[in-house]
Amino acid sequence: MEEPKTICFTIDGQEAVAAPGETVLDAAKRLAIDIPTLCHHPGLEPYGACRLCVVEAFREEHSTIVPSCIHTPEDGDRIETDSERVRRTRKVVLELLLARCPDVEVLQRLGDEYGVEAERFPVSTTGDWQDKCILCGLCVRVCSQGVRRNAIGYAGRGGERCVTSPFAGRAEACIACGACVFVCPTGALHVEDTDTERVMVEIGARLPLLACRACGRTFTTQASFQLMHQRQLIPETTLCTCPDCRRAETRSLAEKVLTGQRTATSR
Ligand code: SF4
Ligand code: FES
Repeated sequence: MEEPKTICFTIDGQEAVAAPGETVLDAAKRLAIDIPTLCHHPGLEPYGACRLCVVEAFREEHSTIVPSCIHTPEDGDRIETDSERVRRTRKVVLELLLARCPDVEVLQRLGDEYGVEAERFPVSTTGDWQDKCILCGLCVRVCSQGVRRNAIGYAGRGGERCVTSPFAGRAEACIACGACVFVCPTGALHVEDTDTERVMVEIGARLPLLACRACGRTFTTQASFQLMHQRQLIPETTLCTCPDCRRAETRSLAEKVLTGQRTATSR
């Protein structure tokens, strides 16, 4: 069978290779070249939403600005990740993101790095949690591609576009696993645990918690437990134990095995 062709190109003057379909961002990571991203996660399909990862791609006489997380290179391409044009484009991207979400720390920090000073675009905040949402889509993708629940999605168009549960009602499919909170780059989403239930604050879901069979501490929701149990075929006793107790049990088992071995060799 014919070997798939490797694409040879350069990134910031370094020789780079990519398999067919691999992106510039993938190849840059292998070379430890840092490209800022906001909507990218290696475990999820790229989406190309934030445009912060832009690079300049030179082919023959021409160059274009492309998002590195979705751009696949061709043989002989020359990629510059920190050219004047790249820095200018990233600055505009950050100005636009800051006009939507002025209080988001990660954007403020990147804004400083790229020299954003005065507000050039009118600030368009809504006064609710969406003021921290840059519509990167990571939460929606992790819920559909990772957890496979599709509990949240988008609604509206243009400036009205937002992340929400279906028909802005109760997110029936949500199991309150917290994956969306974990991947959100701006801290727009929150989870709060009471003694008995987990509240997905912005998504509007409340689900009963499960207590560890060993220490009694709540650590996940019953719905997450059921899903893991169905999909992963992990024994119920393991799943019903919190990570701390699981570690302690493994340690104690390992100690017992080692003590047994020592006793056997000293006989
Ligand atoms: S809530 Fe967070 S993860 Fe979801 S789209 Fe907004 S910024 Fe991205
Ligand atoms: S990381 Fe590439 S467009 Fe957001």
